[in-house]
Amino acid sequence: MNVDLDLLRQYNQSLPRYTSYPTAPHFGEAVGRETFRAEVWRANTAAPEAPLSLYLHLPFCRQLCYYCGCHMKVTHDPARIAKYLRYLKREIDLLAPMLSSDRPVTQVHWGGGTPTLLSPEQIRELGEHLRDRFRMAPDAEMSIEADPRGLTEDHIAAAREIGMNRLSLGVQSFDPTVQEAINRVQPERLTRTAVQWARDYGIESVNLDLVYGLPHQTPDTMADTLGGVVDLAPDRIALYSYAHVPSVLEHQRLIPEEALPAPTERLRLFKQALERLTTTAGYRFIGLDHFAKPDDELALAQDNGTLRRNFQGYSTRAGADVYAFGLSGIHQLSGLYAQNTKNLRTYYDQIDQDELTVYRGYRPTQEDRLRRHVIMQLMCNAEVQKGAVEARFNVDFDAHFSAALDRLRPLEQDGLVALRPDAITVRPPGRLLVRNVAAAFDAYLHDAAPDAQPAYSESV
Ligand SMILES: C[S@@+](CC[C@H](N)C(=O)[O-])C[C@H]1O[C@@H](n2cnc3c(N)ncnc32)[C@H](O)[C@@H]1O
Repeated sequence: MNVDLDLLRQYNQSLPRYTSYPTAPHFGEAVGRETFRAEVWRANTAAPEAPLSLYLHLPFCRQLCYYCGCHMKVTHDPARIAKYLRYLKREIDLLAPMLSSDRPVTQVHWGGGTPTLLSPEQIRELGEHLRDRFRMAPDAEMSIEADPRGLTEDHIAAAREIGMNRLSLGVQSFDPTVQEAINRVQPERLTRTAVQWARDYGIESVNLDLVYGLPHQTPDTMADTLGGVVDLAPDRIALYSYAHVPSVLEHQRLIPEEALPAPTERLRLFKQALERLTTTAGYRFIGLDHFAKPDDELALAQDNGTLRRNFQGYSTRAGADVYAFGLSGIHQLSGLYAQNTKNLRTYYDQIDQDELTVYRGYRPTQEDRLRRHVIMQLMCNAEVQKGAVEARFNVDFDAHFSAALDRLRPLEQDGLVALRPDAITVRPPGRLLVRNVAAAFDAYLHDAAPDAQPAYSESV
């Protein structure tokens, strides 16, 4: 894949990542647990056999990574983790009976924080608890995030025993200087061992997380990291752009700003990584930050137009409502977004009262659903067929989206999209800037006053 630096520079701006539409900053407290309960009941009655996707948030980490932008809490206290797990299981027990037991679970994801901060025994217990309360589909995609530091062979054995078939390991960079600056010293051999255990225990797919734009990162250290990663041959790679927002995330002030690569350097690192992964290493660029081997499910789903996007990133399990358990988790039903509290004390208090902890959300209008569909098609499958949208939503595409089409014309001139009478196609250079293409259809971005806009990260 060839990368045009000038084009990246020209289009690099703050834009949403469209894991939802509208995006989470538009969620409001008009949606609370009563609205959520009613929608769960409605959706479950309307489709009592519809598949389910379950997300479990395990927020604890043993040590603070200075770059971290995830919803996490540092702890060294095993009792704190044990307490959280007790409440997480009670939350599962509150919600599971609201869903028909016929509904197959086709996707499970444990994210964090660091799910593998749980002991192997705790992983087994939580996995069994889920299996007791839900019907897992035999081919369910089950994934867990792990930190190679502190990971043991028994963690992998436990994950496998409860059915986990995907493992996502945090790497970020193999360079010791970078690792020191981000407070995440993680010798390469730990990652190698973790990948080997995953393979030994029959985990089908391994993902490695990398970040570019970290302090002290240079083309040389990036080349070394990429070399090490390619050598490990993971099935998927996530390459995130470091989002540095110390005004919001105070701990990021511990990152030495003078050591951060300048904007052009960052783009160069991105170009370098992209070219290395997609040419000699043979990975397919799926979109945004994701790469997969060409025979991976993600690549195949993209080929046949069935790739989807949710808060966990790209997914092949279309049509499953996502139910989220744990602090800050976001439920994604087709008719409602709803987020659990981010406050641990509130989380415990509400579960003590046998209440769910949803505190905000959003009910998409018909117009939101239409725009969400177009945005997701562009983000996932690089194309939107106008006729299919017209048939599904009963609109005249060109008339309805005339403002969006006008916004896309300069992008067409720059070769990012092809605007055809029957379809909009994202062309290869536009795949890197797909957020800019999707943003043309975002009514909230264009209709709201500029100072009312939430802060999003840059496109690359
Ligand atoms: C919840 S973490 C990973 C799991 C595990 N806790 C670990 O540390 O290995 C998810 C991933 O988000 C990415 N990430 C976290 N903070 C970020 C930031 N500020 N900018 C870009 N990527 C970030 C990292 O690649 C990280 O591995």
